[in-house]
Amino acid sequence: MIITGKYPNLRLRRNRKTEWLRRLISENNLSVNDFILPIFIIEGKNKKIPIKSMPGIYRYSIDRLKQVVDKAITLKIPMVAIFPYVNKKLKNNSGSEALNKNNLVCKATTLIKNKYKNNIGVMCDVALDPYTIHGHDGILENGNVLNDKTVDILVEQSIIQAQAGCDVIAPSDMMDGRIGSIRKALDKNNFKNVQLLSYAVKYASNFYGPFRDAVGSKNLLKSDKKTYQMDYRNSDEALREVALDIKEGADIIMIKPGLPYIDILKEVRNKFKMPTFVYQVSGEYSLLKNGIQKKILAENSIIETLISFKRSGATAIISYFAEDVCNKIKKNLL
Ligand code: PBG
Repeated sequence: MIITGKYPNLRLRRNRKTEWLRRLISENNLSVNDFILPIFIIEGKNKKIPIKSMPGIYRYSIDRLKQVVDKAITLKIPMVAIFPYVNKKLKNNSGSEALNKNNLVCKATTLIKNKYKNNIGVMCDVALDPYTIHGHDGILENGNVLNDKTVDILVEQSIIQAQAGCDVIAPSDMMDGRIGSIRKALDKNNFKNVQLLSYAVKYASNFYGPFRDAVGSKNLLKSDKKTYQMDYRNSDEALREVALDIKEGADIIMIKPGLPYIDILKEVRNKFKMPTFVYQVSGEYSLLKNGIQKKILAENSIIETLISFKRSGATAIISYFAEDVCNKIKKNLL
């Protein structure tokens, strides 16, 4: 550490004097290149359904997807992430709808890629929770989520998504060994250039509630996901998860949730020097959004949290605020 002087010769406040100076001095800034926009999709026609637990966020039917993606492209948001609200009638114990080549996610992916080509990237979650009747990310047998059987299905799910045109396959399930198995299968099926974004560090968090509501798994989920998602008391274990996924072939690493885990984000970025994304999850979104609506928080609290991700080393941020914030960036309001 370099210490350059001492008070009264040194006054750190001098560098904070004016707005133009603070802009010059700033170490971290948000750009539209930092954002991934999550989009919830639903069966049907001409639908834009508000999600109660996530004010300002909607489920769109595929015919209205254009409206959202057009905006993302105008704002130059590099990638969207697709999440389906699956009709309960299509859910079962094994999540077989995940393997339907014509499911919502595949249809949306193909539509976006056909229409917009490489003007925007598409990322798809690999996990079974939107498709299972019990809301778990894998196959449930006698109260256990089976690892290896689930991985076999996730491999198929990944191939189907790649066939639909998905650019970035993002396993969010936390099964052991899935990155290696998926990489191998993608390569074998001529998808050598399809990327793997691993939700390598995903905690069994209390902040996913609104998302589970958004994809319709909340009321179905019995118990919790603690036998596969990480224990939030652990940080060394996060490093082991990341190391494993890099060895198995992950191109990008993700930390999730965001704010309660910026310590992990920073450590992972510093240790592994990998592209490291962070997911500002639904609970974080709703807390901030509600706080702002009730005037408990200032609108700029959103920016404050996003900058904390940049400071901690995030390469990109999945955020439900992506569109709003990118709008501000574009209008030079930040
Ligand atoms: C599914 C998945 C979850 C999220 C993204 N993918 C929920 C969960 O694991 O229960 C949460 C995202 C959010 O809360 O915004 N595996």
